[in-house]
Amino acid sequence: MLGLCACTTDYGYKIRSGRIVYDTPPRPAGQQSMLGFACDPIDTVRIGVIGLGDRGKDVPKRMAFIEHASIRALCDLFPERIERAQASLVKRGAPRAVHEFSGEEGWKALCELDDIDLVYLAVPWQLHTTMAVYAMEHGKHVAVEVPAATSIAECWALVNTSERTRRHCMMLENCCYDFFELTCLNMVQQGLFGDVVHVEGSYIHNLDPWWDNYQGDWRMTYNKDHHGDVYPTHGIGPVCQVLGIHRGDRMEELVAMDTGAFSGQAKADARYGEGAVEYANGDLTSTMIRTHKGKTILVEHDVVTPRPYNRMYQIVGTKGYANKYPTRGLALGSDAAEILSSDDLTAEKYMSDAKRDSLLAAFKHPIAKEIEALARKVGGHGGMDFIMDYRLIYCLHNGLPLDEDVYDAAEWSSLVELTEVSIAHGSMPVVMPDFTRGEWDRLDSLKFYTCRQEAGR
Ligand SMILES: NC(=O)c1ccc[n+]([C@@H]2O[C@H](COP(=O)([O-])OP(=O)(O)OC[C@H]3O[C@@H](n4cnc5c(N)ncnc54)[C@H](O)[C@@H]3O)[C@@H](O)[C@H]2O)c1
Repeated sequence: MLGLCACTTDYGYKIRSGRIVYDTPPRPAGQQSMLGFACDPIDTVRIGVIGLGDRGKDVPKRMAFIEHASIRALCDLFPERIERAQASLVKRGAPRAVHEFSGEEGWKALCELDDIDLVYLAVPWQLHTTMAVYAMEHGKHVAVEVPAATSIAECWALVNTSERTRRHCMMLENCCYDFFELTCLNMVQQGLFGDVVHVEGSYIHNLDPWWDNYQGDWRMTYNKDHHGDVYPTHGIGPVCQVLGIHRGDRMEELVAMDTGAFSGQAKADARYGEGAVEYANGDLTSTMIRTHKGKTILVEHDVVTPRPYNRMYQIVGTKGYANKYPTRGLALGSDAAEILSSDDLTAEKYMSDAKRDSLLAAFKHPIAKEIEALARKVGGHGGMDFIMDYRLIYCLHNGLPLDEDVYDAAEWSSLVELTEVSIAHGSMPVVMPDFTRGEWDRLDSLKFYTCRQEAGR
């Protein structure tokens, strides 16, 4: 339940001087920061998957191709979905999972098993945090689908449980592993764009073909009950990595605004009957965020209008610019001539497709170089899902910090509540909580750890 009064729970907000302020509660005794956390290496990462619907059904398929990964347990409400996942393992030459759980409460027994290391969650949003917390409480690392949490209280529950139990909690933000995004991140980290001053990201995806697929209508139910950017992480995740959020900068203030629910209400009328429900979620929700260093982020959410699929993904730097949709484009100012030894640099237009492609090839991210061929073969949104799973298992197997930590999960998911509250107060600015509790500049940049780098240190 959203609290709209001046004073709510410990993790709620107050209104001070025309701003909604989320305080950062002190770290409870017995907890330690998870920044840079690495667990002991795990020889074979034994995995339990909960939720084998549209998204979860492909997890066993991908894991079957990953060295040091073993699917040990499967759980879904429906036994036939478990059998479908077992069949996909067998088809790829992997052994069947030894444990199966079904029904509403089967997931608890999976989390309580002694012979799994990682619980992988692909269930409706409403269940993510409850299951993730329970799994960590039972000694398991957690990988949880997006968004990891739907409220600030849930974000803190993930952070606090991870810090107390010393278990990883990674949100599975696959868009951070798409090829163009990885390459641009590499370019930013190599200084090609100068100082990045503004970034954009979005989830613009007409879900008309999908609404009927969600088990128990969970997605339409959530959207009809909530204003705000209910699915922000595909947009904000990759661009937060570009800005080095909680690796030298932090998101401080946000303002959200939405349109009326024109298409949304029409879809709800068609689905539930004319006037049967009031549909809350605006057709388009826009959010502006300012960081501590004075950078800005624009995030959009639109799942009901006929706009073609678009995650926006734009990087505006003092020396260069990149955008991904509708076509990939790069522009670099003449300052970059030194780096690129090229005479075709102007900030007035995009560089040629040929030059763009050669630059993208030259700056391909080392992780993409390492695994691209297999990722494209196995697939999953063109390969990014595979790279994400591969990296998760690689880091757990080698005892390295994960690419996305629990603070990323909390920061990116926090937009769900923060945007709703801003809109509920007439687009009032929201002072965002600091999930690192003041340690947002302890790390100096995002690093994808590898054994090679560590050996060379
Ligand atoms: N990262 C991505 O690109 C991406 C894409 C699609 C979906 N997702 C995320 O994946 C998650 C699942 O989405 P989906 O499209 O697969 O939905 P879905 O409705 O198709 O699947 C959800 C599954 O969870 C199961 N489930 C529900 N309650 C359960 C319980 N108590 N115990 C065990 N299983 C239970 C359902 O039976 C169903 O099979 C969501 O969080 C969604 O946001 C992410």
